[in-house]
Parts: sequence; C-alpha cells; structure tokens
Amino acid sequence: MNKSLPPAAGRDALRAWLKEKSPLGPLKATAKYVGRFFQIPLPFFHPYVVYGPEANRKVLVTERDKVLWRNTDPVTDLLQHGVLIVDGEEHDKYRQLMEPALHPSTLSRYTPLIIAHTERVSSQWQDGDVVDMLVESRKIALLIIMDTLFSKDAWDDIPHIWNPILKAIEYISPGAWILWPKIPRFGFRKPLKELDDYLFGIITDRRQQTAEHHQSSTVNRHDLLQHLLDAGLSDQLIRDQMLTMMIAGHDTSTALLAWVFALLGQHPDIHKKVAAEVNSLEKSPLLDQVIKESLRLYPPIHIGNRRMAQAMEFDEGTVPAGERLFYFIYLTHHDESIWENAEDFCPERFAHGRKTPPFAYVPFGGGPRACIGAAFGQAEARLVLANLLQHFAFEYTNHSIRPHMGATLEPRPGVMMRVKKRAIVSEQ
Ligand code: HEM
Repeated sequence: MNKSLPPAAGRDALRAWLKEKSPLGPLKATAKYVGRFFQIPLPFFHPYVVYGPEANRKVLVTERDKVLWRNTDPVTDLLQHGVLIVDGEEHDKYRQLMEPALHPSTLSRYTPLIIAHTERVSSQWQDGDVVDMLVESRKIALLIIMDTLFSKDAWDDIPHIWNPILKAIEYISPGAWILWPKIPRFGFRKPLKELDDYLFGIITDRRQQTAEHHQSSTVNRHDLLQHLLDAGLSDQLIRDQMLTMMIAGHDTSTALLAWVFALLGQHPDIHKKVAAEVNSLEKSPLLDQVIKESLRLYPPIHIGNRRMAQAMEFDEGTVPAGERLFYFIYLTHHDESIWENAEDFCPERFAHGRKTPPFAYVPFGGGPRACIGAAFGQAEARLVLANLLQHFAFEYTNHSIRPHMGATLEPRPGVMMRVKKRAIVSEQ
C-alpha cells in the first residue's frame, strides 16, 4: 500500500518549508498528518519514510537481512568498498579489522592527542575574536581523526586538503542528483583526485616505514592504518576504508560540536552551569546530558538510507523490494508521542536514572551496523568541549541558525561566537 498525502498535509508542508527554510519542516508536518509511514512525493524520487521505535528495530535488527546498504548514489561512488557501503561478508571483514582501534577499552590512549589538537586550534584564537565554531570544530575533528587512526599529523596539510574535503562532503550531500541521477557534476574531479593522492601518499609512506622497520629496530605503529596494511588489503581498499573513516569520523563530530555550541549559546542558563561544572568536577554529568540532548535534537546522521532487497511489512503498509527506504532518525527524535516537549532543549531528560524506550533514541543507529565510532565520537566530544569550556568563555552573537540537510545535519550559516580567555581552575 502506498500512502499518498492528503491536500491539507501538502499545504502545511509548503507552509513549514517557507517558515523553516529546510525540508525538515515539511517532513515534520507530513509526519504529523500521516504518521510513521509515508512516501516522499517527488517526481523521480519517492523513497519510503519510516520512523519510530518499531520501525527502527525492524530495519536495524530483526529484519535487517531484507535491506542493503549499497545504493546507487554518490556516497557509493566516493567510498566504493568502504565499510559503510558494502554488505555481507565483505562488510564484516572490514568491520572486524577496524573494531579494535575504536573499542571503548582502547580510547583512553587517544586522550592526549585529542587534548593537544584541541589546544592547537584554540591557541590561534585571540582574546575577543569572533570565531565560527562550525569551522573551528571541523579543524579539531579533522586533526584528531587523522592522528588517532592514521598517526598523521595533518596540521600543515590542512590548507591543501580543506577544500578537497569540503568538496567530497558536497559531492555526497543531497542535491540535484537526487531528482536527476545522471546530472553532470562539474568541479569535483580535481579536488577528489587531490584527496585520493593525499591518502595514497600516506599509505605509501607507511608501507615504506613498515619495510624499514623490518630491517631495523625502529618502533612500528599500531594504529588503524597498520591493521589494514597487516591484513594484506590493497592500496585501493585501504584508501576506501581511510576515506570512509576520515569523512564519517570527522564530519559527524564537527556537526555535534558545532550544535552543542549553538545550543549553549541559545541557552545561557545551561551554558553557565556546564562551564562551572567542567571547571570544578572530575566528571561532567551535565555536559554528558547536553551532548546526548544535542544528538537528539540535531542528530548529525539524521537519515538512514537503505535499498530493499526484499519487501518489508510495517503496520501501516509494505515497502516493496527494490525501493529506497529512509529510517528517519530525526523524526524519531522529534516524535511528540515519545518525547515530552520534543522541540525543547532539555538536557535533563537524560539525567541519571531516566530511561528512554528501546530504539527511540538512535543517534548512532543500532544493531550490527551501528556506528563503529560511537564510543570514540562521544569520548572525543566530552574531551574537546570540556577543554574548550575550561579555557574560554563563549559569547553567542545572536544570529539565526537553521539546520541544513547536507551529508550531516549542520548548523548553518555557522555558529559565530566571541571567545574570551578564562582564568581557569583558580576560579574553583
Ligand atoms: C557524533 C558522532 C557520530 C555520529 C552521530 C555517528 C552516527 C552514525 C550513524 C547513525 C551510523 C549508522 C548509519 C545507518 O544506520 O545507516 C553510523 C555508522 C558509521 N559510523 Fe558513525 N557517527 C559518529 C562518529 C563516528 C566516528 C568518530 C567514526 C569513525 C571513527 C564513525 C564511523 C562510522 C562508520 C564506519 C559507520 C558504518 C558502520 C557499518 O556500516 O558497519 N562514526 N554513524
């Protein structure tokens, strides 16, 4: 059964689009009218949308064998055989190879690097500067992912790889190709090649170092890149995994960090409490809640994209084989029947002892294809935010911010904040 939209839903959707200037408005308006199962009624693009705990459980766990990750779209073109793209045994092999480097038990060894890169970026700020925390967060997240997973200090490379990385992200973001898949896409070939050359350069250097290491007693690295090399993967397959981790592992963290600053800027009372907490406590329960609530309101990965290998039945209808399915994380997180005052920023809902129903909160997906970097991403966010809030006071410049549906859900046009050095610790 296809669920077409009633005319009133169409009118409300249009109104919401004009008001929120983002497709999220009409999607929320549609969901309100027709519930947790509908089809997006665009010409040439009509994916099914499902959301809510039951649908999430089905797609992610109980009936996951009916869906494929590989879609014929730019994400596949770019990441090729990356772990995020492939299915079946090939996926499980790459995932197993990469899990040790991201296992919660190994994360503490990354702490000094995370702090060092945060401070390197913030040391460039002058007292009273207005900085864009979307840009600054990207610098921090990029340096961290390159150094922790590939032992590559990318500080001097940032000016060269910045544009290629933004182009790679633009390449996989929703655009006109959705309606016209064969649309010629100009301006990408050169920057994407530059990014490939950069990654292949890192692989070549490492192969050389590894060969030299066998001849001498120099210390070898034990990072994710080395796991991939030691497993005998070809340069091309290693490039696919590196690019996957580089993009998936920094663009998400960038969005999360930037949203936390936007939300703290918009909620000075909570901002004040968190700033006091990170200065005086070993652990930061409120900061943890702020991160969780930010991931609820603005989940960086806001849609899970699948292609149906077989038909799947939901209470409200069936998605036929071959169709595209979105399990809509953002809509689950904004569902008023699950979340009281769903649109409000309320970190307290994640206070100790409070429970959320299973599969109602899925910022990292779920099941065997849940985010491989979930623990890493959260630990990183806690460390970066605590460090920055300890050393700087952030003043929001009160500009308007809207969620932009790109590769991630990003605060646009940015998060402009005035930074002032804090007299730290001595304030205790
Ligand atoms: C705040 C940070 C992050 C968020 C919100 C996030 C979110 C997600 C979500 C929702 C998925 C599942 C998508 C789906 O079901 O279609 C996912 C998968 C994935 N994430 Fe993350 N992620 C974050 C950080 C990271 C980091 C730090 C890394 C790498 C170090 C990473 C690497 C991946 C990979 C490789 C997958 C695919 C896993 C697979 O298919 O087996 N992510 N992420």
